[in-house]
Amino acid sequence: MKQLETDVVTVDPIYPAEAAIKRAATLLRQGQLVVFPTETVYGLGADALQPAALERIFAAKGRPLSDPLIVHIAEFSALEELTTSIPEAAWCLTRTFWPGPLTLILPRGPRVPHLVTAGMETVAVRVPRHPVARALIRAAGVPVAAPSANRFMHVSPTTAQHAVADLGGRVPLILDGGPCEVGVESTILDLSTDIPTILRPGGVSLEAIRTVLPQVRLPNKQHIAVSEQSAQKAPGQLSTHYAPAIPLLLYDGSEEAMRSAMLHELRLRSERGEHVGVLIADRDLPAFVQENAGLVYTLGDAAQPAQIAAKLFASLRALEEAQVQVIICRNFAAHDLGLAIRDRLGRAAGGQIIVV
Ligand code: TXA
Ligand code: MG
Repeated sequence: MKQLETDVVTVDPIYPAEAAIKRAATLLRQGQLVVFPTETVYGLGADALQPAALERIFAAKGRPLSDPLIVHIAEFSALEELTTSIPEAAWCLTRTFWPGPLTLILPRGPRVPHLVTAGMETVAVRVPRHPVARALIRAAGVPVAAPSANRFMHVSPTTAQHAVADLGGRVPLILDGGPCEVGVESTILDLSTDIPTILRPGGVSLEAIRTVLPQVRLPNKQHIAVSEQSAQKAPGQLSTHYAPAIPLLLYDGSEEAMRSAMLHELRLRSERGEHVGVLIADRDLPAFVQENAGLVYTLGDAAQPAQIAAKLFASLRALEEAQVQVIICRNFAAHDLGLAIRDRLGRAAGGQIIVV
């Protein structure tokens, strides 16, 4: 593909300058791509109603056309032109969670191009809450299709620099609004079937959705995101979808058991001269500092999954950049954002978990 000059423009994340937003909106209307921050991860945006613009998304990412895109709108009222019917549950959910990291799967409206939905009769829609994303969508005056702004199969970007690393030379403009607040992608909830089903756990927790929609379910509790079979309805949700370029060994069990198994593996590999990356929580730190081996990163307080989620993708990328040969990583409890964290780590581990 032709190399482009990529402009990276810094914008205030809360009060973005009008000039920058206007420029980005004009590009979108012209059928060009713009990378912009959302509260979850950075998105690679294009006008959702222009097939030629949508093609550019797939080309820039190296993403197969069989993987459908999420359409971003600035407010609920824009939903009408994208779907044929708005189920009762959508009204309740959006009242509570929009704007925010919840994507709804709804029946596709006739105006939505097949490139957005990968030929399916459903469409994924969300209203992001990041002020830059909302200002951009409003100014463009069109729904904006946006996958995460990474190359296909790579970790989602949570800073503009991550997006530059993956898409520099492939997009004309990247809006840099600083690091993303949530750090994992939106929760995808399928409302097109009889039982509302979470296809991808994300920034809105299962517990929170349950308070509005008690009948919501996970596709397969034991296997969520750790087996190919759970790939279910979201094409492209291969278990390795979020994999960093290096192997990741994921440990699961009691904290003591995880710690001692990880320390054992770290020792073995360090003795063999391997450059090992280690991902742990603050409370694991003393044991690993004592070991004085490997490149050790802490994701924060294990009791606060929002903290862990916010640092997860940036830490994976940092270890990748440090060119470690393997990453040894602990797992986290499944409550709240922990479900999304476990899902992403499971994928990064290629579906293999070492239960100790
Ligand atoms: O937080 C997010 O959702 C970010 C930001 C940029 O909004 N976007 C994002 O997009 O994560 P992407 O393309 O990386 O992931 C979207 C997922 C894909 O795995 C796709 O398979 C699924 O959404 N998806 C899209 N349309 C769908 C549909 N009609 N039915 C089922 N799954 C769908
Ligand atoms: Mg993605």
